[in-house]
Amino acid sequence: MPQPLIERYRERLPLEPGDPVVSLNEGSTPLIPSERLSERIGAQAYLKFEGANPTGSFKDRGMTVAVSRARGAGAEAVICASTGNTAASCAAYAARAGLRGAVIVPEGKIAIGKLAQALMHGARVIALRGNFDEALTIVRELADRHPIELVNSVNPYRIEGQKTAAFEVVDELGEAPAALAIPVGNAGNVTSWWRGFQEVGAAPVLYGFQAEGAAPLVQGAPVANPETVASAIRIGNPARWEEAMDAFTSSRGRVAAVSDEQIIDAYRWLAADEGVFCEPASAASVAGILAHGLPVPEGGTGPESVVCVLTGHGLKDPDTALGKAPAVTNCENDIAAVERVVFA
Ligand code: F0G
Repeated sequence: MPQPLIERYRERLPLEPGDPVVSLNEGSTPLIPSERLSERIGAQAYLKFEGANPTGSFKDRGMTVAVSRARGAGAEAVICASTGNTAASCAAYAARAGLRGAVIVPEGKIAIGKLAQALMHGARVIALRGNFDEALTIVRELADRHPIELVNSVNPYRIEGQKTAAFEVVDELGEAPAALAIPVGNAGNVTSWWRGFQEVGAAPVLYGFQAEGAAPLVQGAPVANPETVASAIRIGNPARWEEAMDAFTSSRGRVAAVSDEQIIDAYRWLAADEGVFCEPASAASVAGILAHGLPVPEGGTGPESVVCVLTGHGLKDPDTALGKAPAVTNCENDIAAVERVVFA
């Protein structure tokens, strides 16, 4: 039986003794060996499928801790800016905690499943005529002015909760993987994984991947109008910029860009050839190692194992899926006709 993440790792999380546990039994997500990916990259590859969290993304790990602390501190409302997944998670945990929730999302730029989640969980959903970076600036200011708890990954409890993914991987493999590949948007998650590894004395090489049209860390400067099919990581000025760059440097890894085409190729390949349906942003981790390989240090050998973080579920974004998938075959209500198309 899955247990609340807070119960499993309580001694490593900075909650106060009286804080309630606001949980949906998040975490304990599958670590799936991928033989085909291993063959393609020449190293043992695993997929950490964070889409199996209760709201379908890794955000739940951070949200259980942030919302539990907010409740413990007496907050009555929570707020976030989001490309969609944080909004869905924030709305669900706010509902669970009996708090009011407000989420600000870039108008027309979030996947439809995420929007449905935030609305169904009863959050106030505000579609901003602006991008994620602008929405984050606004919510930071609102949280300064009003008694409302900000639950973006600038909230330290979010980072603390999300570091537990690293604990799970190390526990399950019995050691740290040699490398980790991860999509990077606002740069909270790579910061979390690095902290988690460090806390258990591990230091895998971190490879971060951004979408080409939204790659401020790769370019070394904010991007004013980020664009990518991977709407979850359509971010031009990551809040955890310095920590992320420090994680890449300290782990002797790096951050690189992948094109939308490479992202979509990996997204389709994972679903069709491995049976794992993640959202486009998540596929950036696999696209990245396929496009760039696993760098071999001078005079050394390449990493023997790599964990690719698949951050969110493919069902979040049915529009992109249907736009990229083969067509449905329509058929007359007749066995001969069905036979023809099934065995065509
Ligand atoms: N993958 C998915 C599916 C995401 O939703 C996000 C971020 C990331 C990767 C990148 O993680 O921001 O910690 O570097 N989504 C945020 C949101 C921004 O609002 O849902 P990061």
